[in-house]
Amino acid sequence: MATSQEVQQGDLPSEVLQALSQNDPILSATTFPSIRATELKGALDRLASRSMITYETIDKEEPVLEPEALEIAANGSHEARVFEALKQAMDGLTVSELEAAVGDKNVVKVGQGKAFKSKWIAKGKEGRLIASTDSIQDVTQQQLQVIQKTSSHPDPKVITDLKKRKLVKMQKITSFKIHKGPKFALEIVKEETDLTADMLASGAWKTAAFKPYNFKSLGADQNAGALHPLNKVRHEFRQIFFEMGFEEMPTNRYVETGFWNFDALFVPQQHPARDLQDTFYISDPKTADKPHAESQDDKGDYESYWENVQEVHQDGKYGSIGYRYPWAEDESLRLVLRTHTTAISTAMLHKLASQKGPDGRPPPARYFSIDRVFRNETVDATHLAEFHQVEGVIADYGLSLGGLMEFMEIFFNKMGIEDLRFKPAYNPYTEPSMEIFSFHKGLNKLVEIGNSGMFRPEMLESMGLPKDMRVFGWGLSLERPTMIKYKVNNIRELLGHKVDLSFIERNPAVRLEKA
Ligand code: PHE
Repeated sequence: MATSQEVQQGDLPSEVLQALSQNDPILSATTFPSIRATELKGALDRLASRSMITYETIDKEEPVLEPEALEIAANGSHEARVFEALKQAMDGLTVSELEAAVGDKNVVKVGQGKAFKSKWIAKGKEGRLIASTDSIQDVTQQQLQVIQKTSSHPDPKVITDLKKRKLVKMQKITSFKIHKGPKFALEIVKEETDLTADMLASGAWKTAAFKPYNFKSLGADQNAGALHPLNKVRHEFRQIFFEMGFEEMPTNRYVETGFWNFDALFVPQQHPARDLQDTFYISDPKTADKPHAESQDDKGDYESYWENVQEVHQDGKYGSIGYRYPWAEDESLRLVLRTHTTAISTAMLHKLASQKGPDGRPPPARYFSIDRVFRNETVDATHLAEFHQVEGVIADYGLSLGGLMEFMEIFFNKMGIEDLRFKPAYNPYTEPSMEIFSFHKGLNKLVEIGNSGMFRPEMLESMGLPKDMRVFGWGLSLERPTMIKYKVNNIRELLGHKVDLSFIERNPAVRLEKA
């Protein structure tokens, strides 16, 4: 057993052991009244982890005096000070004389009213104030002095009343009841944190005390990069597409021509979506070259495509009567920030038209993309002028609308969305078009989750795809499911300069509840 001399002076854990060797249990409030609870807890945890002590935490609320109450405890209540000043004066005082006597205008203002109410003072001759009794009891001062001395008051109603008067507030006081533990000793034995080769060689391991593992300790913060929530949800969507045999489209171009963004999609040149209000146009350069092959393996026919698009808009073709307006080349060559990734799908389908499968015809294909698009919209809590579009297209022979509705069920089921509803809708480039809804259990209503449709023959035949090849497409925003997943209500918390970086660093990986 160690003697007390071996205990280091001024070392809190050792002081706790010292105190315990004399008394068991001890109360920290009496033994260590001036040591802060957090500091003491650190020392106690160290000892408890070695089973040298055990302890319980006692949380108590104690009344403490506010600054005004400290003054009252020392000098008396406002009303008592008013009374005392008037008692000293033989013929009473005017208000300004009283203020001078008390030395504090505010004390007089508050104290006067209360002293009148308690009938301690009265109005005398010529409006002078006089004391109307010989002696008073300054109850408030007495109550506050009791609390100041004992941190409590025998009458709980008094505390409630003083709290209401904002003279007293409750403060949480943490203290500890400390007992000797099974391995109590006065000396703290150094615990080994590692089993070393030296200890094995010397045999020291046999008698060494080992520090137990702390499985509760948090790892040190790693100052590493973090994926943005949109990236995490995007990753999940990509997995679903890959699982279903889709190929990712190259979406690395934000600027497109009106041709790829609109005309090739059979969007007429007067369509409101092409308005300045809805679309961002590039001012420098304003126009682009006509569409052409960008690499040697691109065997696409761009010349007849361009002519077909003009014809199908202006005069009609492929059994369609067209829109019958004079189609302007310039409009088609204007540069825009793409308003949808369907511009890319269109270019991909045009490339598909020149490919030959085993039967000499374009082979079935499944493409997807997830990337940024831009719309000239009023910015609010749920809209920015840009967002990320998740888009898929399926090209195949003999596709039917029913089969594709079933495909949608499977696709959305993979992200935990069930029970879809389809509503007829309109897109210039699809017929039929369907908005996709799902019943949201939390919101207890149908919410729109996507837009879809069968691409029109005016679009597909212009690019040279065979008549019996059908193409289905759909699109949704990446932001919406992300905001729902991460419970973000304002899009500005997710994207842009107001984003809280610690939110990005700390948000968890996402798992779409796959069916
Ligand atoms: N382009 C459509 C949109 O922006 C989505 C869509 C893609 C619709 C393909 C039908 C077919 O909402």
